[in-house]
Amino acid sequence: MRVFSGIQATGEKHIGNYIGAMRNYVVTQDEGDAFFCIVDLHSITVDYDPQDLHDRTLDLAALLFAVGLDPERCTLFLQSHVPAHAEAAWLLSAVTGFGQLGRMTQFKEKGEGKEFVSAGLFTYPVLMAGDILLYQTDIVPVGDDQRQHIELARDVAERFNSRYGETFKIPRGVFPEVGARIMDLQEPTKKMSTTGGTAQGTVLVLDAPDVIRKKFKTAVTDSGRDVRYAPGEKPGVSNLIEILSVASGTPIPAIESSYDGRGYGDLKGDVGDAVVELFGPMQERYAELRADEGELRRLLHVGADKARETSAPTLEQIYERMGFVRP
Ligand code: TYM
Repeated sequence: MRVFSGIQATGEKHIGNYIGAMRNYVVTQDEGDAFFCIVDLHSITVDYDPQDLHDRTLDLAALLFAVGLDPERCTLFLQSHVPAHAEAAWLLSAVTGFGQLGRMTQFKEKGEGKEFVSAGLFTYPVLMAGDILLYQTDIVPVGDDQRQHIELARDVAERFNSRYGETFKIPRGVFPEVGARIMDLQEPTKKMSTTGGTAQGTVLVLDAPDVIRKKFKTAVTDSGRDVRYAPGEKPGVSNLIEILSVASGTPIPAIESSYDGRGYGDLKGDVGDAVVELFGPMQERYAELRADEGELRRLLHVGADKARETSAPTLEQIYERMGFVRP
């Protein structure tokens, strides 16, 4: 089984990225032949700083190894190291509907109120479809906010297959049962995000322990006192319960009953402690891995070789089926 997922190079990684995606990369690397891609080409579609892109790319590679990706068991690579991604994006734009791209909520959200909206932000999902389809992917572990993009990738694959002949596997998104959409701790009806959320409500994977505890302590909760999981009615508390469930490995009903007679204050303290405990060892490994840039670059080089080799036959098929004269 082929597994593929991508994660943006820029922006600091938060507990939503970890719970919604990164921890499932770690699990799926043992379920199939897994490819994980730091999507640096996607990162230039919004305002960004070149030096920041450069540094954050290496930070993220170190972080992904620190959370448990194993270069022996999966392939981690940079999107820009494999030119097939940029080529596939152009080729697949021929079978992507302009109307469908315009309906993407992420495009609308990220473009809203901006003086300059890049063409790349609009065509972004085509690049993502190419990422996935080039690897004949079966499953794509992602958070809930990527649902619409995965749907588009499936539509693109189906349109290509019916127009040019069977070429792509139709991929399936895999979303976590708990934590597919972690919410901002200050505004629990909004998704946690470093671009759209609040700083105080966004817990970074590399935040210091006291910062993590404080962010949870000051989390916005709901009216009432009982610790009960009800996302519609109690979004703040339910979000904290989901985070605690993942961080401590305790099912949600067991958490609810363990707070009988106790209030939100206890819950906030416990989530903070559980997350500090979860992130502590990762932060230590991160610091070690990040310090050895030569080794990081070597691992990414090995990953890119494997990714290039794996995607090449599909890219060639795309060109041939579409009628290009090949060299
Ligand atoms: P990105 O970089 O925004 O997010 C990386 C992963 O984190 C998940 N995620 C969340 N999960 C739960 N709660 C949240 N608050 C939260 N915020 C983010 C995302 O769902 C994602 O899985 N377009 C993609 C990157 C991409 C990609 C791909 C993914 C490019 N090509 C091919 C899969 C396959 C993105 O911007 O993710």
